[in-house]
Amino acid sequence: MDALGAKVIRKTRLVTAVSEIFRNGLIYGGGALVLIHCHNATRTVWIDCCDDGPGIEDMALALSDGYTSGSGLGRGLGGAKRLADAFEVLSEPGIGTQVRLAGRA
Ligand SMILES: Nc1ncnc2c1ncn2[C@@H]1O[C@H](COP(=O)(O)OP(=O)(O)O)[C@@H](O)[C@H]1O
Ligand SMILES: [Mg+2]
Repeated sequence: MDALGAKVIRKTRLVTAVSEIFRNGLIYGGGALVLIHCHNATRTVWIDCCDDGPGIEDMALALSDGYTSGSGLGRGLGGAKRLADAFEVLSEPGIGTQVRLAGRA
């Protein structure tokens, strides 16, 4: 994002969102693969975070503030959605989870 000339506040928003999603991939997904795409024309960074963990049964519940199936605060997934400029979760029980998010510079 530095290369795109992003302001500190916008970088902080995206870094916070990505770290929450990556942490989920590690804790709940058993490890995650992260892909970063930098689109100069739109000054946007897209991030995909994929895991082959158990997947998310109830997406609405997982996104709701305060819900955790572990020992967290339950604010990561919903918080990341609010912080990102684009946000999508694909998840299938038994296959895994992919979160795609974007932040504009
Ligand atoms: N990659 C994932 N794989 C499986 N379940 C997930 C994943 N990410 C989130 N979840 C589920 O969504 C819930 C809410 O996530 P989050 O809001 O980050 O809260 P926390 O990390 O504090 O549990 C998690 O407790 C977990 O049940
Ligand atoms: Mg979390």
